[in-house]
Amino acid sequence: RIAYVNGRYLPVAAAQVRVEDRGFLFGDGVYEVVQVYRGRFVDEEKHLNRLTRSLGELRLAWPVGRRALEAIIREVVTRNRLHDNALVYIQITRGAAKREHVFPKPGTRTTLVVTARAIPAFPRDVDAWATSIITGPDQRWDRCDIKTVNLLPNVLAKQAAKDAGAFEMAMVDGQGMVTECASSNIWIVDEHGQLRTRALGHEILPGCTRAALSELLGAEGLTLSETAFSLDELRRAQEVFITSATSFVRPITRIDGASVQDGAVGPVTRRLFAAFARHVQ
Ligand code: PDD
Repeated sequence: RIAYVNGRYLPVAAAQVRVEDRGFLFGDGVYEVVQVYRGRFVDEEKHLNRLTRSLGELRLAWPVGRRALEAIIREVVTRNRLHDNALVYIQITRGAAKREHVFPKPGTRTTLVVTARAIPAFPRDVDAWATSIITGPDQRWDRCDIKTVNLLPNVLAKQAAKDAGAFEMAMVDGQGMVTECASSNIWIVDEHGQLRTRALGHEILPGCTRAALSELLGAEGLTLSETAFSLDELRRAQEVFITSATSFVRPITRIDGASVQDGAVGPVTRRLFAAFARHVQ
């Protein structure tokens, strides 16, 4: 596998960043994960817009221009011969400098890393794609809208899910309301049949899959209520699913070991899975 690091394409095992890189020392950096389907970048514009925003919020400079980054990610995909389903990972940190919390002196070069790997083909069978989640406290900071590489609470949440035999953890804030999952957004069809997901704000990542799916709802005759729901409402929901660049639209049929309704994938989830499958084609 080939990685891009600051202007060079190298085998992953040989690609290196410096031991004083602020991404390594402080988690001082941002990232994006973009899905490639049959050579096409899914929602590329949305991902690069979000990257621009994350950089701005952390007062990080673009290491290369946006057009140059678009060329680099294509080159990484090509050099890895990834012609089918793949994931591209982009990380930008505040660069290498002697360890001091304050920003390094102006002109310090930011670090840009791009890697890519093959992922399984887009799932054909929505029933087989269904999975389970657990629930737990949201232990993150109050700027979860920035896609930073500071992912310790997310890592611990995801490991807790794995230890419990589940795929994800739905995280609950101090008011008992669900925010999102460790690496995906979460949606429900509530007990009244209303499709809901948490409104954008500092509490959740503005998912590109969330945004793309929102744009497909009108054609499906569905409306979305962007309102927070409680853990209780999650448990009583008619349907639950998650969205992300790696999960696409993924049905949730078990929560903390209990079935969601009768444990079958519901009709709205089925429709939205199909609509998103058409969107990535
Ligand atoms: N995770 N919420 C969180 C906390 C996430 O980390 C992600 C993405 C999402 C969904 O965003 P999007 O639809 O743009 O992928 C929501 C990526 C896939 C990751 O960290 O691997």
